Amino acid sequence: MRRVPTTSAAGAELVPMFTRHMELCKVTEGETVLAFTNTQSNPAYSTALMAASRLLGAGFVQMVVAADNEWMKSEVIVDTWKGCDLVVATLSTEWMYSQAHNDALDAGTRTLMLQEPEDILARLFPTEELRRRGEVSRGILEGAGELRITSRAGTDLTMSMEGRPVAVQRGVSDEPGRWDHWPSGQAVVSPLETSAEGTLVIDRGDALISLSRYAGSPITCRLREGRIVSIEGGADAFLMREWFETAKDDRAYVVSHIGWGYEDRADWNAMGLRIWEGGGIMDTESYHGNMLIAFGSNCCRELGGQNQVDFHFDIPTRNHDFYVDGRQIIDRGTFTVPELRPDHPIA
Ligand SMILES: [Fe+2]
Repeated sequence: MRRVPTTSAAGAELVPMFTRHMELCKVTEGETVLAFTNTQSNPAYSTALMAASRLLGAGFVQMVVAADNEWMKSEVIVDTWKGCDLVVATLSTEWMYSQAHNDALDAGTRTLMLQEPEDILARLFPTEELRRRGEVSRGILEGAGELRITSRAGTDLTMSMEGRPVAVQRGVSDEPGRWDHWPSGQAVVSPLETSAEGTLVIDRGDALISLSRYAGSPITCRLREGRIVSIEGGADAFLMREWFETAKDDRAYVVSHIGWGYEDRADWNAMGLRIWEGGGIMDTESYHGNMLIAFGSNCCRELGGQNQVDFHFDIPTRNHDFYVDGRQIIDRGTFTVPELRPDHPIA
């Protein structure tokens, strides 16, 4: 059964945690926080955001749009986002790859995605350690050229990230023009759109986010000149192939982004247990030592991608090896870089 707030007290309960988070986002007196919501958003989150904003001396506005994506065509929305200091969007991902989002970031607005259930927000509350791992990841990826991933299941895939920026998520939007997602702990880059070559094997137990399921058997994807050219396997491959076909657009098959998670508190099974309430997605995407690859749109300013298509498919996997310019960073799902391991002493 889907859990929904049944009392206005649900918002009050969240005020201490949301206030702590808004402090991390550097919400200060005189700023304006916008809760960007749709008709399916959790109203307790808006209540808690308003209370947190007021406690910190900031103004608060809530905008409610219909639960389809028609709002993306509205210039009023873009202007409103630009006029606010922090936009907290309590709806699913489409807005992230919208022009409205890029325009708001260019104007210096901070943006934050907030969608997971409250107990997951608490379990994966941002920490200094996550920030540190994000900066270590940035240091590894920044200025790199070739990325290579391999696995015992049969993956051997290379691509180029030459000249592309590194996007680091740590669950906090605290700088002008920064977007983040609470909760999150991952570093991703958008490879050059025609560069991916080789084979990706999505092994059993890997997460097919858009299909709200874990693969039950291996799926073998061949990639040529940056895009998937074949998807082979059992029932999961059949469903994945059908899902890609719904886009009716070749650009859906292009690698959108690739990277790794560094959140050791993440629970791989959370998606299976909580997907019916929009939960557990960030557990798989941020999972410590995962290899997260996605296909489709990547036109978010912080990724610097060029692939514009109304399709996005995230696939967090485990047990991959990850190489950056020949240096091994992950060995079968475990970081080889001491600074990214949970047992690394905090400086
Ligand atoms: Fe993604």
